[in-house]
Amino acid sequence: MKLQLPSVKSSEITPKSIFENRREILKMAAAGALGLELSSWFAREALAQTKLNVKQNPAYTLMDKQTPYKDVISYNNFYEFGTDKSDPIAYATSLVTRPWKISVEGLVGKPKVFDIDDLLKLMPLEERVYRMRCVEGWSMVIPWVGYSLSHLLKQVDPLGSAKYIEFTSLADKKQMRGLSSDVIQWPYVEGLRLDEANHPLTLLTLGLYGEALPNQNGAPIRIVTPWKYGFKSAKSIVKIKLVEKQPTTSWFLANPSEYGFYSNVNPEVDHPRWSQASERRLSDDKGFFAPKIKTLKFNGYGDQVASLYAGMDLKKFY
Ligand code: MTE
Repeated sequence: MKLQLPSVKSSEITPKSIFENRREILKMAAAGALGLELSSWFAREALAQTKLNVKQNPAYTLMDKQTPYKDVISYNNFYEFGTDKSDPIAYATSLVTRPWKISVEGLVGKPKVFDIDDLLKLMPLEERVYRMRCVEGWSMVIPWVGYSLSHLLKQVDPLGSAKYIEFTSLADKKQMRGLSSDVIQWPYVEGLRLDEANHPLTLLTLGLYGEALPNQNGAPIRIVTPWKYGFKSAKSIVKIKLVEKQPTTSWFLANPSEYGFYSNVNPEVDHPRWSQASERRLSDDKGFFAPKIKTLKFNGYGDQVASLYAGMDLKKFY
């Protein structure tokens, strides 16, 4: 089946018609029916999110070719909506992202509940193009929008006893059909060491491709840590807690030998069931026929982050 997109001039497309077509297009995208048509101007506009006022941060640009928008928003892992890559685009339409509050609590002097619209204004929004490497062996290059998580953490005065940070995603059965499966323990919990969380690369992420985050990519707010495997980047976060002990994460509970706490991208440490030495970069129409390229240690961010792990045996702390 091929999607027949109506032939209309761009000037004739009103927000209403875009909205009405959106659901249909999302459904068809999920059914794999869109193919190349999704890259057409119309489909791109129909899927558009709120535009954000964004400035590119020249410190975080990349020469690597960016993964097309259609792939970034249609090939996702977001188990709260199902375990297939096409489930999030189909079913995350049920996620309600306004109002949305994020509680920042735990070992902090000034715990606070932030409204998402205040977080959008807390700092100037930057575009940062990051390489993203999934533990499954594929990778993307994505222009994210946000600012360093450290700016948010400063607001709550972390105490000296805080050593780790725990991110909790929304878990609402009414909105998230995937919660009926016990594939991992809900809510989705991830964590970082506090110095990793405060590293300037760690992005409090509010958008991509200059627009607010699509639901399937973790709207309205997620974390992105580009030197770690993708599962460390928790989506649709409602709670950030500073703690003394290393958090127990959902993936670690599911399979401790496969999902270590650190999960730094490391071609020298294989996943127990497959090699991590190479990856397929989903940056053009070849998709999974893209030739394999070598995976870089710390996903190519070693100059910035290797010092965080000085003296640590990264095979032990995988
Ligand atoms: N966050 C939540 N809450 N639930 C998830 O299932 N999947 C993780 C991560 N964050 C996941 C999540 C995994 S395995 C990956 S690879 C990335 O999100 C995928 O992000 P993307 O779909 O925006 O590329």
